[in-house]
Amino acid sequence: MDALSPTPDPQPPTPVSRYIHPLSIGGLRLENNLCLAPMAGFTNVAFRLIAKEVGGCGLVASEMVAALGYPNPGNANRFRLLTENVPAEKPLAMQVYGREPELCAITARALEQAGADLIDLNCGCPVKKAKQSGCGVALMREPEQIGRIVAAMCQATSKPVTVKMRLGFDAEHRNVLDVAAAAVANGAAALFVHARTGESKHGTAIDLAPLAALKASVNVPVIANGSMDTAEAIRRAKDEAGVDGYQIGRAACGDPWLFRNLMAELGSGVRYTPPLAERRRLLERHFQLIVGLFGEERGTRIMRKYTFFYCNGLPGVRRFRDRFMRIGSSDEFTTLVADFFAELGAGSVEGPVEHLTLFDRGQADAAGEDEA
Ligand SMILES: Cc1cc2nc3c(=O)[nH]c(=O)nc-3n(C[C@H](O)[C@H](O)[C@H](O)COP(=O)(O)O)c2cc1C
Repeated sequence: MDALSPTPDPQPPTPVSRYIHPLSIGGLRLENNLCLAPMAGFTNVAFRLIAKEVGGCGLVASEMVAALGYPNPGNANRFRLLTENVPAEKPLAMQVYGREPELCAITARALEQAGADLIDLNCGCPVKKAKQSGCGVALMREPEQIGRIVAAMCQATSKPVTVKMRLGFDAEHRNVLDVAAAAVANGAAALFVHARTGESKHGTAIDLAPLAALKASVNVPVIANGSMDTAEAIRRAKDEAGVDGYQIGRAACGDPWLFRNLMAELGSGVRYTPPLAERRRLLERHFQLIVGLFGEERGTRIMRKYTFFYCNGLPGVRRFRDRFMRIGSSDEFTTLVADFFAELGAGSVEGPVEHLTLFDRGQADAAGEDEA
């Protein structure tokens, strides 16, 4: 797809430091250990390409793909949208969501054929539907089943298989060590661990102690997830738990500069604040990519949440929030962005001014409901 051709922005070099360094997962070498977390409704090819263009992200991840027994004609279009990828974003992780070993294996093979460099199993999704169907975080109650799924996936693909898990199903069942042991014994090449249990809200504090115990008990890379979005959080994860890498989700939405800024802060570089003109240029490029992927009608609806996130923290975002959430056409997007940035004027804004809480107010989720 032409719109998905990369822009020629130079990539910042990868500094090697105690915190940021190359990482190997099975036979896959990552240039650095800052990873994008999979986020359904967000981490499509457009989002990932922007993250790579800005630089600093060692591994991008797709949205989860349900193990429904692909190929299935009814799901072919959805599968295509979820797995569309371009060379410029590589290496790329894709994620399987399911619980039947055979279906997960078929899906893993399909993801490899679609271009995945690493295939991850979702054992962390906490939504009601996942819990009811025994998928996502519900699998944390069944370490042996996770072992069977991982074994089947490893049989089906030559790519490294990893597992994304939480500390446990809930506070009373913190069995991450058992789950990790079952996953690794059956071939998992790395573990992404969200340092909360299945019932914890995103705002609650993470717990690094189980990650330290986990690091001591397995011989594969352990990548910490859960609010790893500041240099301070990353230093703590390394210093207190000895983790090998960091996976970042929500904070990357609207802030694709986060990865290179973390690299700078944790290495010898200087933090970069994008001028408003650059923020606007990237927002407009993101819009073109999304429309190229989903078409104008659906693309403009999907773009509502991204527009909000790109502008979050800037003066006026509160007043414009409702307009962001009602964008209905390309023209409306163009006019709205022009109005918003005209009010701001030129130059750069240092630090957040009106930062609305991400994901806690429902705007993103409400906009996300427009998606299939
Ligand atoms: C909108 C949204 C969608 C998500 N989708 C997925 C998913 O498809 N697979 C998955 O393993 N985790 C998913 N997650 C969880 C994130 O990958 C990550 O574990 C979580 O947001 C904590 O990391 P953070 O504090 O850096 O955001 C999602 C999170 C959000 C907010």
